[in-house]
Amino acid sequence: MSRELVADYIARLVPYVPGKPMEELERELGITDSIKVASNENPLGPSPKALRAIRAALKTLNRYPDGNATVLKEKLAGKLKVKPEMIVMGNGSNEVLELAAATFMRPGDHAVISEHAFVVYDLAVDSRGLSKTVVPPGKNYGHDLAAMARAVTDKTRMLFIANPNNPTGTMATRAEMDALLKSLPEPVIVVLDEAYFEYVEDPAYPDGVELVKSGARLIATRTFSKIYGLAGCRIGYGVMPAEFADYMNRVRQPFNTNSLAQAAAYAALDDDAFVRRSRATNRKGLKYLYREFKRLKLEFIPSVANFVLFKSSMEARVLYERLLHQGVIVRPMGGYKLPQWLRVTVGTPAENRRFISALEGLL
Ligand SMILES: Cc1ncc(COP(=O)(O)O)c(C=O)c1O
Repeated sequence: MSRELVADYIARLVPYVPGKPMEELERELGITDSIKVASNENPLGPSPKALRAIRAALKTLNRYPDGNATVLKEKLAGKLKVKPEMIVMGNGSNEVLELAAATFMRPGDHAVISEHAFVVYDLAVDSRGLSKTVVPPGKNYGHDLAAMARAVTDKTRMLFIANPNNPTGTMATRAEMDALLKSLPEPVIVVLDEAYFEYVEDPAYPDGVELVKSGARLIATRTFSKIYGLAGCRIGYGVMPAEFADYMNRVRQPFNTNSLAQAAAYAALDDDAFVRRSRATNRKGLKYLYREFKRLKLEFIPSVANFVLFKSSMEARVLYERLLHQGVIVRPMGGYKLPQWLRVTVGTPAENRRFISALEGLL
């Protein structure tokens, strides 16, 4: 009998389905003015300072990047008031999530994840043949941290928490995080994914970097993909105890973040005006979408991030396809076990109006 090409746990993996690219939709439908509000990207474009830095860095492309991202880490460390040795850079924060599982989980270890959480945690665990418990959600399909704590066994090594969570836009509070951290036994590491950190304006929102500083066994991940508008560059980072970072850096590929991404991220950190403008655009966009969803009598989940989950009055997949034909790309949530729901990213005011008008026409 021939050996199977891949292990069972690889054969069982379900490919990730990204948001449909605008170019693909336009080619399929022969249109030119589609909008993509499907991947929680920044609708204002990249940080202008980052763009200038990329142009200047182009002439160094014959050289390998700085594998340690030294100057970028120093700058980040200054901003976050941590030691550079506590930061690991990744090819997007996704890579840091992967690295967390690769570095700290041993064969036989177990992870705890919430139902309807960002799918990459499942992938990091499942692709290594590790075991997991998927905990039922709490309010608004968000994380129930107390239930996650109860799912910890003597094999548990890692808890993955998205704060805010994608696709629900929900968040755990500082009090909930504190209670969770207090209850966890020593070997457990919390991976706290803060990809949308810079958007959150709720005063009860916990700061993962502060939790690391206070001694928690925690890896806080953040990204330049969202508010800094650099999703295509693929650069993010994790902040963690220096001992964790030391091991993670041994597992990491030596040149995992490229020189254009490093230069862009460095410059973007100075672009406070762009960050402020992005946050304000998002705040106004959320308000507009809530008002319109109410007017259209569509159920939605209030969000602290740059996207909103809303419930379709028809099968979500059908509404998604019909919106595509209007040149509007959103994301159906069947893959997140929410087959009635769609996720829309907050766009520019014009994009938000276009989305609502297409939606209204279809309902
Ligand atoms: C919750 C969450 N974490 C991480 C990421 C990945 O971000 P990055 O582009 O930094 O890999 C995303 C992207 O959509 C996300 O929604």
